[in-house]
Amino acid sequence: MMSLNAGAGGTEAPPRSPPPRGHLTASARAAANFARSYRCRRLCVCSMAFVTRQLVRSVSSSSTASASAKKIIVKHVTVIGGGLMGAGIAQVAAATGHTVVLVDQTEDILAKSKKGIEESLRKVAKKKFAENPKAGDEFVEKTLSSISTSTDPASVVHSTDLVVEAIVENLKVKNELFKRLDKFASEHTIFVSNTSSLQITNIANATMRQDRFAGLHFFNPVPMMKLVEVIKTPMTSQKTYESLIDFTKALGKHPVSCKDTPGFIVNRLLVPYLMEAVRLYERGDASKEDIDTSMKLGAGYPMGPFELLDYVGLDTVKFILDGRNWTSLLSFCNAVEVVSFDCELQCLFTTVTSDLPEFFPTNLKIQVKRWQEKEKCACQHLLTG
Ligand SMILES: NC(=O)c1ccc[n+]([C@@H]2O[C@H](COP(=O)([O-])OP(=O)(O)OC[C@H]3O[C@@H](n4cnc5c(N)ncnc54)[C@H](O)[C@@H]3O)[C@@H](O)[C@H]2O)c1
Repeated sequence: MMSLNAGAGGTEAPPRSPPPRGHLTASARAAANFARSYRCRRLCVCSMAFVTRQLVRSVSSSSTASASAKKIIVKHVTVIGGGLMGAGIAQVAAATGHTVVLVDQTEDILAKSKKGIEESLRKVAKKKFAENPKAGDEFVEKTLSSISTSTDPASVVHSTDLVVEAIVENLKVKNELFKRLDKFASEHTIFVSNTSSLQITNIANATMRQDRFAGLHFFNPVPMMKLVEVIKTPMTSQKTYESLIDFTKALGKHPVSCKDTPGFIVNRLLVPYLMEAVRLYERGDASKEDIDTSMKLGAGYPMGPFELLDYVGLDTVKFILDGRNWTSLLSFCNAVEVVSFDCELQCLFTTVTSDLPEFFPTNLKIQVKRWQEKEKCACQHLLTG
């Protein structure tokens, strides 16, 4: 833990000109990598910052002052997607006094979701009402009666305060859904996505309500995990943002705020760590079991990286990795150097055109150039070459 904190705690600007690679120790090389990627991000962000600032000023200056007075008190929630996350969000919302409509594609899926919610609620009740099982039963019944289900989202969003989307991690599918719902939802309704990796702005662009659109990133399992990342895009109004902060608190969660940056806070740090664990194992440096044990006993983590990968779901992790677009690539370039696992790099490099922008890190430019020359040579070779 100490070393993690020491690494993450530094707030000073990284050195401007790192010494040549060959002269560096391994840890100094890692620091230099970070410095390069930091500079890259700074340069990239600078070019967009002016535009964004103007946008934020014009959108928020008039709305900020009276925002708190007009905040929306969320009472009725529509959760789209009754899988792992959606079922958990619906459960927690209903258990904290909200009325909920849970939406999924088929009645079978919804029946399964509701059964899962009931089982989860019974576990909660057993602990919470250990001394009073009758009150526990009443809690379960009351919570379940607050959740109705539907397979037609357009028909249920007209009277909802908040739509929480927790469907498959696919931008096109999410965009299609929100575009449709935008036509049917009430004017005041706030839309949020629970996406792990996609840009909220890109999802919001499918609608005409960018000011009432944000990210609400819950963690698995939702009933247990206290954290919710509240993602404010440059277009999200202060009123929407504050209404969502209040809503997450009403759920008994702890909100943290983050800009619409790839991976937000948790996944930005967590995913490169998980991928580095895979790399360590792939190289044959250590067994999966010993890597898990090391992070539990040596870093105080409740789960090792492989246990966590299984828990999140390998398919979801794959979607998160695939979801890295051009912007993400630039922002994740630190991870590209450190994580450096083959198929990921192969995938990233294929998205790079020959016109590499000025702010692209020099070492990555060299790697891409070599890749273009040799086309099919292994990514690992590019990194070490
Ligand atoms: N699994 C995690 O640990 C985790 C954590 C945080 C955020 N997320 C994000 O939450 C979202 C959902 O993840 P999940 O793990 O619950 O997935 P999941 O596969 O368990 O559930 C997704 C559900 O959405 C339904 N669905 C798909 N398309 C739909 C549509 N057009 N309309 C209605 N329902 C539809 C599916 O039938 C399925 O039941 C993803 O964006 C994911 O990135 C996942």
